[in-house]
Formats: sequence, structure tokens, C-alpha cells
Amino acid sequence: MLRLHNVHAHYGIGAVLQGVNLDMAQGTIGAVLGRNGVGKTTTVKAIMGLVNVTQGSIFIDGQDITQSPPHIVARAGVGYVPEGRMLFPDLTVLENIQVAQRSSAKQWSTKALFELFPRLEERIHHKGSQLSGGEQQMVAIARALATDPRLLLLDEPSQGLAPKVVRELVDVFIKLKNEGVTLLVIEQNLKFAERIADQMFVMSKGQMVYQASIAQFKNEIDAVKSQYLTI
Ligand SMILES: Nc1ncnc2c1ncn2[C@@H]1O[C@H](COP(=O)(O)OP(=O)(O)OP(=O)(O)O)[C@@H](O)[C@H]1O
Ligand SMILES: [Mg+2]
Repeated sequence: MLRLHNVHAHYGIGAVLQGVNLDMAQGTIGAVLGRNGVGKTTTVKAIMGLVNVTQGSIFIDGQDITQSPPHIVARAGVGYVPEGRMLFPDLTVLENIQVAQRSSAKQWSTKALFELFPRLEERIHHKGSQLSGGEQQMVAIARALATDPRLLLLDEPSQGLAPKVVRELVDVFIKLKNEGVTLLVIEQNLKFAERIADQMFVMSKGQMVYQASIAQFKNEIDAVKSQYLTI
């Protein structure tokens, strides 16, 4: 459902993405690992239309979205949860969700979102700035789901969260997968990535250098770690 073929991108003169290839099947979870600065965030920004792709192509369900602006990519069914959550601090939980909602949203009504995140219903009138890190991450995910995406891109969703909250996120991601949403998750937390992912991807120096099923990854983990993940 998602295919990147030989994607190149750069900021200014320095090349960042140097031929990224990636393939994901509908209804699966993919985790992207890699050291700092290798181009993980830039890859999801390229999918989202937030950085200029200078070469290569990006397809969603066969639709070519290369070079499409973010609102067209969103309309093609892609949701984005950026690093750092980026909530409106002065808006309440409900308002943060409502600003993203479209009248056409069918799958993820406010009711369905509060069934997924009961804690947010308890905090419905709290402002963004009054929420814990975990609650903020839940609002950021709920806001992205409010557009009924078929593909959800998440940039380091577990970052800075307590272990208990990270375990809750695992359950949420599995539920989303069971609802048919495809997830591409950038993660530094290897344990978390292993718990959620069907497919593991590893980036290095602007390329996707490794792609394997979770079973294969677990067999090769020591080699992958020493080659691409440890500093
Ligand atoms: N807005 C920008 N302008 C210029 N250079 C940038 C910009 N954003 C990122 N870069 C550079 O592009 C490279 C890739 O950055 P990117 O954020 O994609 O890496 P990353 O794999 O997500 O890293 P991290 O693990 O630190 O989040 C880095 O060298 C970074 O310094
Ligand atoms: Mg990043």
C-alpha cells in the first residue's frame, strides 16, 4: 500500500535521502530504526510532501503522490504524528481533535476515538498544556486519526514516555492494525519496535539498508545492531 522507489531529497546543498526504497503491505506495522541523523524523519516528511523530493517516486495504493503538497497527501489517506506531538497548548483535548476533523470522517468519530483512548474522555476539557506526555501523545494520535487515514506515519511516538504508557501505546497500535490502519513508526526504542512491528526497516546514511520480517530480524539482531544501530 506504500511504496517508495529510489527517493532522493536534500536540505540546501547536503544530500539527506539518497535513494530510499521501502515497501509496506496494507494492514501491517513497519518500524524504522537507525542512528541519529540518518534521514528517518526526512523520509516521513518526504512521504507527507513536507520536503522536496528531487528524484524517485512515492505511491499510496498505486496513486503517485510524489511531489504532492501535504493536503493532497492527507486526502490520499495519510495521517502524520510528528515528533514532539505539536498540540495546540491553549486548546482542550476535544478542541485539538475537532480542528482536524472532517465532516466526511466515518471510521474515527469522536466516540470511536474516546473508545480507543478512554483517558482522553476523562480529560476532555483539559488544555493541551495541562496534559502528561502520554496524554499529549494520545491526543496527537487521535488528531491524526480524525482524518480517517489508511496509513499513519508516527515519528518516535514513545519518546520520553514512562514504560507503563509505552505498554499502553503497544495495545493502541495493535488495535489500529486490527482496524485495518497501516502504520509506519520511527522508533529508537528497540523493545517497543519489536513488540509492534511486522516488518523492520533500518536506515543508514540516507538509504534503507535493511528490511526484514520481525522473525528474520530477531534471528539477525546482533549483526544488525553492531552494523547499523550501535554507535
Ligand atoms: N530543516 C533542516 N535543514 C537542514 N538540515 C536538516 C534539516 N532537518 C534535518 N536536517 C539534516 O538532515 C539529516 C537527516 O535528518 P533527519 O531529521 O531526517 O534524521 P533522523 O534520522 O530523523 O535523526 P534523529 O534520530 O536525530 O531524529 C541530518 O543530518 C540533519 O542534520
Ligand atoms: Mg528524527
